[in-house]
Amino acid sequence: MPTLSDPLVIGKFALKNRIIMPPMANDMSSEAGEVNNRHLDHYRVPAEAGVGLVIVEHSYIMPSGKMTRKQLGIYENGLIDGLRSLADTIRTAGASSAIQLTHAGANTTSDVCGCQPTGPSDVPPPKRKETPRPLEVQEIEEIVAAYAQAARRAQAAGFDSIEIHGAHGFLLNEFVSPYTNHRTDRYGGSTENRLRLPLEVIAAVRAQVGPELPLLYRFGASDFMQEGLALDEAREIAPKLVEAGIDMLDISGGLCGSRPKDLTDTQGYFVPLASSIKAVVEVPVIAVGGITDPIYANSVVAEEKADLVAVGRAMLKNPAWAGEALAQLES
Ligand SMILES: Cc1cc2nc3c(=O)[nH]c(=O)nc-3n(C[C@H](O)[C@H](O)[C@H](O)COP(=O)(O)O)c2cc1C
Repeated sequence: MPTLSDPLVIGKFALKNRIIMPPMANDMSSEAGEVNNRHLDHYRVPAEAGVGLVIVEHSYIMPSGKMTRKQLGIYENGLIDGLRSLADTIRTAGASSAIQLTHAGANTTSDVCGCQPTGPSDVPPPKRKETPRPLEVQEIEEIVAAYAQAARRAQAAGFDSIEIHGAHGFLLNEFVSPYTNHRTDRYGGSTENRLRLPLEVIAAVRAQVGPELPLLYRFGASDFMQEGLALDEAREIAPKLVEAGIDMLDISGGLCGSRPKDLTDTQGYFVPLASSIKAVVEVPVIAVGGITDPIYANSVVAEEKADLVAVGRAMLKNPAWAGEALAQLES
């Protein structure tokens, strides 16, 4: 029976345990998106406490995909040195590292991205009011290329792996969801067409970083909305993400966001999504959502509902969570 403290060595992954710090944006950067000492301290402490994999918060791959003013950036080469100090800090503290790459799509405002927000169609994701401008095909190609360049920077900075953000109403989620994607060209309509952009991004990133660097995909496996993506379709999509080159799936919500109000009272509120996706893929799957109790976290792994468990807000509240959890499980 697997446990939370077991290493996970599958394919290209070699993690010392099954505890993940999920990506959590801090808005601690300069307006140019640079790393500073506060980032180093913020990630060092949970890494030293025993987290297996630290996934650094969403970093924007190009200015038009920026979500918040002080978001971490990975959109130009001048940012690599700062990112390298972050990857070095996490490694020295004893954890493996990933960095999440994002384009916010329509999940931003014009005053932050400096342009009319863009998306697949003129439908904003829930909670956004500005009407997005549908992307031209040439712009889509530029976004694919920007993901590949951002991945090159992440690799040059020394991150052990890369996570592509395809959840929470960000651009790739907006393309997959029938709620936000009303296109009639090859990027809209059928499942195959709505999935085209994520698959192109994965292929471009994989071609850029080579076959060895592990790639994670944070997949919003249900929008929990009428006319949105439903789990049944997500179960068709997940194996295609893997086939395209993904080594680990990080399962969260889609357009409903990461902490939908009507679900968040339950510990492990997205675990059923993760376990349903785990049944249709061969790669390791991360579960997340309201997990605070080490015994519960261990049961998710032991009962093989997921292979790894991400603990977000509980770790922000108590950066020593991982070490304390491992000690509690040992005793
Ligand atoms: C402050 C904060 C920032 C977050 N930023 C990100 C992010 O950058 N990328 C992402 O995919 N999810 C982000 N999330 C969602 C978390 O990764 C996680 O999925 C969510 O908090 C649910 O897990 P939890 O209940 O253990 O906190 C953020 C959550 C919080 C609380």
